[in-house]
Amino acid sequence: MSRLPFMAGNWKMNKTIDEAVDLVRQLKASLSGVTGVEVAVGPPFTALHAVCRELQGSPIGVAAQNLFWEEKGAFTGEVSPAMLKDAGCDYVIVGHSERRQYFGETDETVNRRLKAALVHGLKPIFCVGETLRERDEEKTFAVIQRQLEGGLKDLESKEFISVVLAYEPVWAIGTGKTATPEQAEEVHRFIRERLAKMYSSDVADAIRIQYGGSVTPENVRGLMAQPDIDGALVGGASLKSDSFTKIVRFKEI
Ligand code: PGA
Repeated sequence: MSRLPFMAGNWKMNKTIDEAVDLVRQLKASLSGVTGVEVAVGPPFTALHAVCRELQGSPIGVAAQNLFWEEKGAFTGEVSPAMLKDAGCDYVIVGHSERRQYFGETDETVNRRLKAALVHGLKPIFCVGETLRERDEEKTFAVIQRQLEGGLKDLESKEFISVVLAYEPVWAIGTGKTATPEQAEEVHRFIRERLAKMYSSDVADAIRIQYGGSVTPENVRGLMAQPDIDGALVGGASLKSDSFTKIVRFKEI
């Protein structure tokens, strides 16, 4: 089964509108002609519309970093799925560990967000990952299984097929400590096996699982050489066109 590699940038709380447009202009130029890889950028909410407009007609997709599950109404500070579609988004990151850690995200709220995204035709990038403490206590697989089962509760195969998974060990995010390709592959394989049990082996084979956590131009090739690693969710290194371009063009490094 060959899965199209997918490289996505998670810009987190960085970039003004002008800075965001400037970065995607550079990426449009530096990534022109790249084939055999899907690419998306994930600007903050305020820059989404301008970035989507700048990328119109380009193969680079746009991901929001979160969404709320309600359609509209009295939910001060929240952004609905339809608003993200209106801004031009293709993807939405759901369940990022920073949202779980700092903003009270749970498997149940992740599940609600995933369902809302899918109903509105947004493709979720669904993040799972263990903390250092959980890894040290040898709970990695149990935590991942709980996050998968809770996050994907009541999602059928035909909906799930639009989801992209991202395995992001919390201890590797923004720390410069990447999981070794073997450590990452072990969890990716586990995720695919669980998905085969929850859905079918055909579905599990088709789903892309990105790795995230201190991905750089230096380590991307080793990660991408693993059979179950299908792309990367890139934080820090996606903020500069040079490093993100090298990651997207990993085959040419
Ligand atoms: P990082 O972030 O690449 O800066 O470690 C990855 C992420 O949180 O998605």
